[in-house]
Amino acid sequence: MEPYRIKVVEPIPVTTRAQREQALRRVHYNLFGLRAEEVTIDLLTDSGTGALSAAQWSAGMAGDESYAGSRSFYHFQEVVHDLTSYPYALPVHQGRAAERILFSALLPPGKITLSNTHFDTTRANVELAGCRAVDLPCPQAGDLDSDEPFKGNIDLHRLAHALRGPDASRIALVVMTLTNNGEAGQPVSMDNLTRTASLCREHSVPLFLDAARFAENARLVTQREAAFRDMSPRQVAEQAFRLADGCLMSAKKDGIVHIGGFLGLRDRALAERCELLLIATEGFPTYGGLAGRDLDMIALGLTEVTEPCYLQARADAARHLARLTREAGIAIVEPPGLHALYLNAGRLLPHIPAHRFPGHALACQLYLEGGIRSVELGSLYLGSEDENGAPVTAAPYELVRLALPRRTYGLSHLNRVGEVLAATVEERERIPGYRLVEQPPLLRHFRSKLEPVQG
Ligand code: F0G
Repeated sequence: MEPYRIKVVEPIPVTTRAQREQALRRVHYNLFGLRAEEVTIDLLTDSGTGALSAAQWSAGMAGDESYAGSRSFYHFQEVVHDLTSYPYALPVHQGRAAERILFSALLPPGKITLSNTHFDTTRANVELAGCRAVDLPCPQAGDLDSDEPFKGNIDLHRLAHALRGPDASRIALVVMTLTNNGEAGQPVSMDNLTRTASLCREHSVPLFLDAARFAENARLVTQREAAFRDMSPRQVAEQAFRLADGCLMSAKKDGIVHIGGFLGLRDRALAERCELLLIATEGFPTYGGLAGRDLDMIALGLTEVTEPCYLQARADAARHLARLTREAGIAIVEPPGLHALYLNAGRLLPHIPAHRFPGHALACQLYLEGGIRSVELGSLYLGSEDENGAPVTAAPYELVRLALPRRTYGLSHLNRVGEVLAATVEERERIPGYRLVEQPPLLRHFRSKLEPVQG
């Protein structure tokens, strides 16, 4: 049962199949091009799409909008400090701004960062700083079907090897992403994080958490890691932050706000360097990239997000949708995490080769069938072709992510998604692949144009 009731409602659009066919044609079969009012259930992302609590809205109304030294900032700083133990909290407009500021201050060109998996903006910001981002996911992450509890872990063996290897002097940072969004939202165990922290200490390399989904990781630790069974998610989260030198936080996820983030830091000299960049590019340090009201809303969101009954309801919702998906005959990346389900489109649509984008084909079909928006994580996102359109590289898996916005959809919405998944499976042999018609030079999945190809 969701531990909240509805106080404000927002109608969601109900469309006909003919309208959806027309909309898809208009946007050249790219779901990012749809207007939100053409989408019935929007599972594109869990980022900035959650519902605020009544307490958050009213805290926002009481926000202090002073340019310097606002009450909202000091409240926000105290809440971040209690949770993370970091004395410095630099507010930014969203997670990627924290990445840009930290990497500009910490990474001279030519350095290397290591991670369980860099999220795509994290990788982009490392590369923009003239550095190299190396992913070291654990080997268990490669088996999509296994029930391994912590497939988000870093490969400790490869990490130790890298820290002792010939490039060791170039390694400037280790980033642990909790939960690991690039590996299907799988969690990182406290055992893995603790061992990573001691390797980093041994080699004097700073360890930062990409803490976008810290509460969800903590909840999964209490469920899956025996030594933490009797701890609350909040206690696990506090312990995780204390193992690191700082954090990058997109508050749009586990801050349960529509916009916001922060950079948490332990080291004073680094904080001073980052503050200068903050002032130049985001704002004065007591508001950064945000309004005073945002800081108060984040402060409350960071507290509400670790409430056990909230996390329990979120986990139950993900498990419910996972069951419906399996019952419909679609394999998911097992075991399901909390923020999203990842559908194995490659297995569902074996008649569509990678360069005809089976994940994209499934995502388009879910929209056509029921107005559900999802996102492809397959060869449209990660693959490449030569100038004649012939495939060069394919993604390792052809996946579709159904992300679950926080406190937004109820079980009846998920049941509707289940019906649409089942109807889509009935049609699967008739689902066409897609051909790229036009693509931008960078991040092509956002803006490319496609068309269906039969046979
Ligand atoms: N780190 C992780 C693990 C993320 O998932 C994201 C965003 C970011 C950093 C960047 O934060 O959006 O506030 O700048 N993920 C969104 C998603 C976009 O849909 O998964 P941001």
